[in-house]
Amino acid sequence: MSTPKRYTITAALPYTNGPIHIGHLAGVYVPADIYSRFLRLTGNDVAYICGSDEHGAAIPMRAKKEGVSPQVIIDKYHAIIKKSFEDFGISFDNYSRTSAKVHHETASEFFKKMYENNQFVEEVTEQLYDEEAKQFLADRFVIGTCPKCAHEEAYGDQCEKCGSSLNATDLINPKSTISGAVPVLKQTKHWFLPLDQYEDFLKEWILEGHKKDWKPNVYGQVKSWIDDGLRPRAVTRDLDWGIPVPVEGADGKVLYVWFDAPIGYISSTKEWAAREGKDWEPYWKDKDTKLVHFIGKDNIVFHCIIFPSMLKAEGSYILPENVPANEFLNLEGNKLSTSKNWAVWLHEYLEDFPEKQDVLRYALTANAPETKDNDFTWKDFQARNNNELVAILGNFINRVIVLTNKYYNGVVPTPNDFSEVDQQTLTELKAYPAVIASSIERYRFREASQELMNVARLGNKYLADEEPWKLVKTDEERTKTIMYVALQIASALATLAEPFLPFSATKLKGMLNHVPVAWNAIATEDVLIPAGHKIEKGELLFAKIDDKEIQQQLDKLEATKKANEIANKQVEPQKETATFDDFTKLDLRVGTIVEAEKMPKAKKLLVLKVDTGINVRTIVSGIAEHFKPEEVIGKKVTVLVNLAPRKLRGVESEGMILMTETPEGSLVFINPDQDAVTPGAVIS
Ligand code: MF3
Ligand code: ZN
Repeated sequence: MSTPKRYTITAALPYTNGPIHIGHLAGVYVPADIYSRFLRLTGNDVAYICGSDEHGAAIPMRAKKEGVSPQVIIDKYHAIIKKSFEDFGISFDNYSRTSAKVHHETASEFFKKMYENNQFVEEVTEQLYDEEAKQFLADRFVIGTCPKCAHEEAYGDQCEKCGSSLNATDLINPKSTISGAVPVLKQTKHWFLPLDQYEDFLKEWILEGHKKDWKPNVYGQVKSWIDDGLRPRAVTRDLDWGIPVPVEGADGKVLYVWFDAPIGYISSTKEWAAREGKDWEPYWKDKDTKLVHFIGKDNIVFHCIIFPSMLKAEGSYILPENVPANEFLNLEGNKLSTSKNWAVWLHEYLEDFPEKQDVLRYALTANAPETKDNDFTWKDFQARNNNELVAILGNFINRVIVLTNKYYNGVVPTPNDFSEVDQQTLTELKAYPAVIASSIERYRFREASQELMNVARLGNKYLADEEPWKLVKTDEERTKTIMYVALQIASALATLAEPFLPFSATKLKGMLNHVPVAWNAIATEDVLIPAGHKIEKGELLFAKIDDKEIQQQLDKLEATKKANEIANKQVEPQKETATFDDFTKLDLRVGTIVEAEKMPKAKKLLVLKVDTGINVRTIVSGIAEHFKPEEVIGKKVTVLVNLAPRKLRGVESEGMILMTETPEGSLVFINPDQDAVTPGAVIS
């Protein structure tokens, strides 16, 4: 195994405009946590760094919607997110936030240094400006009529009705959402990072230098960006939420959120070092430090092109050695979405499955979207728990602990001579630390989790073949050896499982009453848990999850789907204008249904007799799939009485009953069902 090293491991700073869900965990925080825990266990010097991303236009938008200040929003979600990470055992060395003073200072200094070294290009462009609110408007802050579908409340960047992506300047009748004023075009100055000047550097560093060791999905995306040609990118914005641009003549301007956020990794490291009495600089400036960014695929350009160019420009920093970005996780076949509430929120998961953090960590790792988008299903979650954690790992540990207590009062027995099977099993065990390490070091966490499970499989097979529970009756000495070997495997598992299943590993260490062995010692030491050592009583590591619990989760998602369908139901466009005369031609009356029967051989039709006040007449209505005849008798309904009669299946229908459809697709009567309303009353 390699010699110990210093590692700076970053996990994408989550936006504080909502809680976090399984997609975040699977894509970024669990793999980064496995990696960090593994590196600590193998004796490395690790700084695992994260924090909240609290700037950008989305935060004041959300604040405005909820009628509170941006500070209230970031405080709320920062607390929720931080707690979720703690609850799931994400072992950050520091979790900071970009509203922290140390971050404002660090980001300002970074900008100033680049500014003083003439590393920005200044450019004046025209943008929409709200003269009443005296501020420039981000596209999202402008609404108006969509030029494509005439929806009157399209946003400047997108029409949510027809889905077109727009520029704020395309909108008809644009209005500022801040003051309602009509925006005007106004010149504004911004600072641009001339990415075109970094093309050669990026080509050499990534395209030539990391062709082999970066994941193909990451390398491919970077290559296509570079091949398309890089353009200067504005790193300042006209906004009043963010870090003020720290130079003369930049009043009302802030740093672009993607300029300040990655610097948050540095600020968070500083905060940690100050607290721990360490020097932060080697973690960012020493050539021997290995910097690794864990992110989702939508962050690749920022971590592989923009931020490295900034680090390069600043000059004193190291560059990432790898950016093992993951693809996306879907949920039951659909894209995870915060706004559509299509997610498994971590805080809600814990309410439904308390103490089952490791189960989710494991299910997400075993099915991680490492090389392609993947789907989280509750069925798979259940199977991972019941068939792997319970049936393999839990089962093995339970047998070892229970039998040791039963046969030897919990004292590890003294082994006799090892048989060939024993020796082979122990030799196989010794190989696993390197096998799992190799997967982790190549960012193959799914594979690593399966190798971990193979250690438990090894133990199960050994016990199943040797059958100590039978042998104990005939050969006590042989049984001791078997249980001793099984205990060595259990002891190794307590260490090997830690990066993946930290809560269960802690429990297991408790059961073994054992100072855990070092990762590397598993391969080299013959004795992991010595004869004569007393272990504790067992407790179950994992419990079966039954179909009912899974069905509840599926029902919850089904309800979300329904709610979304209702919310998204498209409003039909208004019809052509009708004159007052057109309207008065229609004779609408209150009628009462007095008889109803099914039209023979017609699935949809009911033949009704309706008392219109004028007469009792026959009306054929297409409602048979929604109502039984007996349900509609006696109902007061709205009837169009002067519709030209027409024959349906040979029955003449003299009028039409007005209906509407609910969002769920059922039909209901337009129902003038008030006591004061009498049959025959004219509706106008
Ligand atoms: N907040 C961003 C997102 O959720 C990630 C920021 S990563 C950082 O997509 F590098 F900018 F910090
Ligand atoms: Zn539209």
